[in-house]
Amino acid sequence: MHWDNMNKFERYSEVKKRIAVLVEGEHDHIAVMATISSELFHAFPHFHWVGFYRNTVKRTLKIGPYQGVHGCLTIPFDQGVCGRCASTLQPQNVPDVNVVEYHIACASSTRSELVLPVFDSNNSLVAVLDIDSDEPEAFDNVDMTILKDILRSSFSMN
Ligand code: SME
Repeated sequence: MHWDNMNKFERYSEVKKRIAVLVEGEHDHIAVMATISSELFHAFPHFHWVGFYRNTVKRTLKIGPYQGVHGCLTIPFDQGVCGRCASTLQPQNVPDVNVVEYHIACASSTRSELVLPVFDSNNSLVAVLDIDSDEPEAFDNVDMTILKDILRSSFSMN
């Protein structure tokens, strides 16, 4: 894949197509999460950590498939940007993690973060998708809109 000459929109268009082909007919959430993590991580050099935290019991998120350095294993709904996303069911775009006191720093190099809720076809929360960047203000509404779309279509089988 020649990502080098592609702008952001072209990269998203390509990665969206690749994910759609790869996860077509796949009902296993972990398999889908692993595929999306890998594809996004390799498509965008400024995505330094891409992964999922799964909705488990007692309002607790547990680490799922990811790419990057190790992340914390457990995040209660009342902690972290991921917990905020899970408890509000709303995307969280944090342009500067240093000014958000509830942010959990897994890597000290992280400057900004985007977290999106992942729903199944019954609109139940399956997980959150967490993308961290070492660049400040790395994410905007384009990222949010396209990623939401990718997540909706990838997890619609269940
Ligand atoms: N920063 C996240 C924690 C997960 S790691 O960054 C991989 C948070 O505040 O929820």
